[in-house]
Amino acid sequence: MAASEAVPYAKTGGLADVVTALAMELSALGHRVTLLLPGYRGQATQNARREVMRFSILVMQTKTEVTVEEELVPVTEASHPLRVFLVRYDPYFDRPGIYQEDHHDYPDNLDRFTLFCRAVLHVLRALTEVQGEAVDLLHLHDWQTALCSVYLKALPGEYKELHTIKTLLTIHNLGYQGIFAAEEFGKTGLPPSLFSPSALEYYGSINCLKGGIICADAVSTVSPTYAKEIITAEYGCGLEGVLSSRIDGILGITNGIDTKVWDPARDFYLPARYTAANLAGKQVCKRALQEEFGLPNREVPVLGVVGRLTFQKGFDLLLEIIAELMSLELQIVFLGTGDYDLEQQFKAVQQKYAEKIGLHIGFDERLAHRVEAGADMLLMPSRYEPCGLSQLYSLRYGTVPIVRRTGGLADTVVPFRPSTVESKSATGFYFTDASSDALLSTIMLALRVYKEYETWNLMIKAGMSEDLSWRRSAQQYAGIYRAMAEK
Ligand code: ADP
Ligand code: GLC
Repeated sequence: MAASEAVPYAKTGGLADVVTALAMELSALGHRVTLLLPGYRGQATQNARREVMRFSILVMQTKTEVTVEEELVPVTEASHPLRVFLVRYDPYFDRPGIYQEDHHDYPDNLDRFTLFCRAVLHVLRALTEVQGEAVDLLHLHDWQTALCSVYLKALPGEYKELHTIKTLLTIHNLGYQGIFAAEEFGKTGLPPSLFSPSALEYYGSINCLKGGIICADAVSTVSPTYAKEIITAEYGCGLEGVLSSRIDGILGITNGIDTKVWDPARDFYLPARYTAANLAGKQVCKRALQEEFGLPNREVPVLGVVGRLTFQKGFDLLLEIIAELMSLELQIVFLGTGDYDLEQQFKAVQQKYAEKIGLHIGFDERLAHRVEAGADMLLMPSRYEPCGLSQLYSLRYGTVPIVRRTGGLADTVVPFRPSTVESKSATGFYFTDASSDALLSTIMLALRVYKEYETWNLMIKAGMSEDLSWRRSAQQYAGIYRAMAEK
């Protein structure tokens, strides 16, 4: 498995959680998994690390010296450890950011991730050739690793030892495609003929994800609804044609969560722990959260927001209705970072309504856990959401999600309706239009239900008792791997 993020090494969003949890669960199921990541700055873990390979890669006639370090992560007593390979090339990866700094992407991201892809294939070749390990499958995630499948198809002579390896590309977010100027194509080391509409060319630029979609042996995404959405113009971000031309279709497998890391009964980031049977600790978490965000300890519903501040997440819809919300009995706690303009707007509303809005601009894992636990409701008004993990965490923490009905949000939240209340299956609220009116009326509905103590409690319990673990999804991936390997 190759990816650009994985906890605890590097994280900007859900991809990092997914990669590690899936790799661990597959190992627990008995598979031998090696995870390849760029060796970024500041990745110290508790595991011993040793250098296992050193080689050079030729990029634009220049030799680039890469080292690979290995960590063995224990999984279960019965299973093989998860082997993590960190691909180090410090001029590219020993930096303060993962993809960007001060809100600007690194200008050499194409150089960085093509080098990473080539190093991944180099490592696989060494494993096969020198160590006699048979690698069956390479699971790629997002544009940063998509080019691996292109290299395998386009340079069969260079990677002949790997001709039996199948590639699965999982798309976590079509909004990020790895688009670069045509002039940079030479850096990829690919034959110039591949800069064509049937391969990597996209409106005159290079599109790494497009190349991966065309060359990978199979393509999947992280929920069944998103798999259907992305073959439409509304959600396809310009790649709907390429996606729908894959005759085998796009598979949709819903993410799970790491139920050891995200467990209100064991979470040591929390000031108190709790279970569905005894929610007393959740009240302690709520009071601590109000304090931490500088809000008065009042008996009002607290709405939590955790997420990247981007157009995708629809938090601007919240800003549009902030005046209406502030006239209601509630508080909002906000944890996020991202677009500079949105950050400024959130700072401004927080200053205006300091009694009711708590804000933390930044990335803070501990605080994310505390918001998930201490809030009563979690807002995710996403314009699109491939899967979404925050709402899954909120379900597990007894924090009722209010989401837009799209992608994985539609697949994972059982909406409040007479029938779902009757069957005790309702776990949250959703709305369909990506509009602030729809968001406002859904929040109002949730606030009304919040007052119906029994119904609200049933919703909390239904969410907390759902099986959100990785087991089922990891088994689905394993089924796909097997089918691909046997083809
Ligand atoms: P996405 O991957 O699109 O960002 P997800 O809901 O799948 O959305 O995953 C987001 C992950 O990132 C969750 O684990 C969430 O807790 C975390 N996260 C997002 N923003 C922050 C932040 N500002 N501080 C800490 N964790 C954050
Ligand atoms: C992406 C998506 C998010 C998904 C995550 C992990 O960042 O935006 O919806 O949960 O990847 O798959």
